[in-house]
Amino acid sequence: MSRTAKDFFAPLAVGAPAPPREIPARPSRAIHFFDPGNEKMAAKVPAMVGTVDVLLGNLEDAVKAENKERSRQGLVDIAKATDFGPTQLWTRINSLDSPWVLDDLTTLVPEIGDKLDVVMVPKVQGAEDIHYVDRLLAQLEAKAGLTRPVLVHAILETARGVANIEEICAASPRMQGLSLGPADLAADRRMKTTRVGGGHPGYLVRQDAPRVDGETQYDAERASYQQDLWHYTIARMVDACAMHGIYPYYGPFGDILDTVACEDQFRNAFLLGCVGAWSLHPVQIQIANRVFSPSVEDVAHARRVIAAMGDGTGAVMIDGKMEDDASVKQCQVMVALADELAA
Ligand code: GLV
Ligand code: MG
Repeated sequence: MSRTAKDFFAPLAVGAPAPPREIPARPSRAIHFFDPGNEKMAAKVPAMVGTVDVLLGNLEDAVKAENKERSRQGLVDIAKATDFGPTQLWTRINSLDSPWVLDDLTTLVPEIGDKLDVVMVPKVQGAEDIHYVDRLLAQLEAKAGLTRPVLVHAILETARGVANIEEICAASPRMQGLSLGPADLAADRRMKTTRVGGGHPGYLVRQDAPRVDGETQYDAERASYQQDLWHYTIARMVDACAMHGIYPYYGPFGDILDTVACEDQFRNAFLLGCVGAWSLHPVQIQIANRVFSPSVEDVAHARRVIAAMGDGTGAVMIDGKMEDDASVKQCQVMVALADELAA
């Protein structure tokens, strides 16, 4: 059953139960950010089509206040001049408490609403923010005669947003997904990291170190493990998105040169259930494409389990490991993702 634009335009009563979701599964392993007002970056966009799942014209943070109009117009120009083929076009609009957001939406929807797949809304605090964007999009789409609804993606980057995560996911049938916004979230929570995402060398857990006879002190080097600062929020986001049938994403990793740590952070997010991450530099596109695609070995194993389990019930032993009805479901997740990426 597919939904018509009418379903998206029908405003939801506040507090109404979320309708079943049919957000199309489209690969979005890397959401590559560019500033459409930066001529050097903008010039590279056409050549990136087909090499990345999502190109996102960023209008919010990292664009100077005096350049907001230029970036917005740059996005209109690029979208009109470019055939995006299989690559999705997203934008990150300015926050709802800024002086720029109304012009962002009232310009972009009539001008390039036919090309825009998703609008990413920053600093979402609760369902009311999504209701506002939803209603405005519906009005602008109706006025422009658009038949394909623009979807909405919320960045989780305030403590209040995290507390209201369920209602945000359920706020509109347009909801496509959520991203973690670790930099703003760290500031809002008064965390003591100044990094943009990723780990922190001070966030450690110690394990009892093996002591040899006569040793009186632990060897901290041997017995310390860095923990993931973002584990709690990502896990919460994954559960909320799974419950509401939308997609969870890790956000930005600011240390462009540290490709190893970036890959580690993306992989943790992938293993926990995220479908993609942001890319702030072309090098991160390669990392995200690799990490958020299941490995050939994992897919082969999953197919083997599914085949061995026949009708999917009961239990079998494969390579000394017990597989049962639940393992089949896990394996189906892996195979479905592989098929979706191969399509
Ligand atoms: C992203 O917008 C962040 O604040 O991390
Ligand atoms: Mg932010």
